Amino acid sequence: MLKIQKLPGLKSYNYFNKQLIRRFFSRQLILGIETSCDDTGCAIVDEKGNILGEALHSQQQIHLDNGGIIPPIAQDLHRKNIEKVVWDALDNAALRIDDVNAIAVTVKPGLPMSLEIGTKYSKYLCRQHNKPLIPIHHMQAHALTARMIKKINFPFLVLLISGGHCLLALVKDVETFLLLGDCQNDAPGEAFDKTARRLKLKNIPEFSKMSGGQAIEVAASKCTDPGRFQLSVPLQHYKDCNFSLAGTKTQVLRAIQREEKQYGVPPDGIIPHAYDLSASFLLIVTRHLCQRVQRGMEYLNRKDMMGEKKTLVVSGGAACNNFIAKGLQIVCDEMGYDLVRPPKKLCTDNGVMIAWNGMEKWLINSGITTDYDSVFTEKRCDLGPRSLIDDLRNEAISCKWIKLTQLAQPEAFR
Ligand code: KG4
Ligand code: ZN
Repeated sequence: MLKIQKLPGLKSYNYFNKQLIRRFFSRQLILGIETSCDDTGCAIVDEKGNILGEALHSQQQIHLDNGGIIPPIAQDLHRKNIEKVVWDALDNAALRIDDVNAIAVTVKPGLPMSLEIGTKYSKYLCRQHNKPLIPIHHMQAHALTARMIKKINFPFLVLLISGGHCLLALVKDVETFLLLGDCQNDAPGEAFDKTARRLKLKNIPEFSKMSGGQAIEVAASKCTDPGRFQLSVPLQHYKDCNFSLAGTKTQVLRAIQREEKQYGVPPDGIIPHAYDLSASFLLIVTRHLCQRVQRGMEYLNRKDMMGEKKTLVVSGGAACNNFIAKGLQIVCDEMGYDLVRPPKKLCTDNGVMIAWNGMEKWLINSGITTDYDSVFTEKRCDLGPRSLIDDLRNEAISCKWIKLTQLAQPEAFR
């Protein structure tokens, strides 16, 4: 892993050598800060992946009550909470800022006003305490979290499903992500959030505190006929691994309108078959994700890019969904992959994943800076550094879809 012999000159060789030896033989601590969306998170992890302290302030209820995230409100809440969250995490760990080796912070992608709070505060802490800064890519951090909980070697395949993203990528090393599939419109979490809102599930007390995705999962678990609504699997005729859920979301909205009209549902009311519709929707999203993942696996086989031990990591907020995980497990069993899904609290946004990504960079001595002014936030950015999407499309792989018929039974949602 360490290519010391490649470093130029004896002086720099000794310098880096000493630094790296110190890094490998003493306890390393990274503090991570996350504020890319609506969670203010902080954690301290060591080089073995032990979480020494963590704190999280979630804005979920406020945004649920507002019917979605309003960026200035999210920013105000991050501003109000960040200091307390950082001190709580340190208190929790019985550590001081001076004890950590560096501070990692999400700088991209995300809501600009939210990213700004964490990034500015991290720069301030680094200046005050003379610490290096490690800028982190939020989606890369979601992908690498799995390596903190299980020994997963590179390369591995990752499916990232969150509120803002849907990505399929081959992870070659800590910094090399080769994109196989990207999101063309609504990400899964976003589609679940909008559908749950339109179904007015929040008006049922049981669902009032749940994220849209969780509400759809719980509503689907109460279904009696998941086949009641016939929705079509998106992009079936496109021989790539891209994702699209806007069409399905529209089909669901039309079905809601039809039932509202047919049954004379009042403005605050819920359609009679909301649970079956939630199940039909979840089933189609799962089929879509499974098909794109299967083609990605077949492409990697054809190109011999995966190696002996094959792993699929699924992460991001929507990876909390047990039904989606069931579908992916079927695909993995058939294709000879291990499925790794981090614990739910590490799938949604948190400070731990940022601290761990910081640690992975720290251990290879890459992406660390003391030139704080050179660090900027970015609303959108590539997963990087290279995309294989065109090559994959050119291969035009026709797949014989792995059967997911067992998922269409009501029991599969419970
Ligand atoms: O990764 P995350 O915490 O934030 C982003 O980076 O977007 O993901 C949040 C998303 C929300 O859209 C939420 O509805 C979704 O994750 N989510 C779920 C579940 N729990 C949270 N989606 C499906 N099933 C769940 N159980
Ligand atoms: Zn996220």
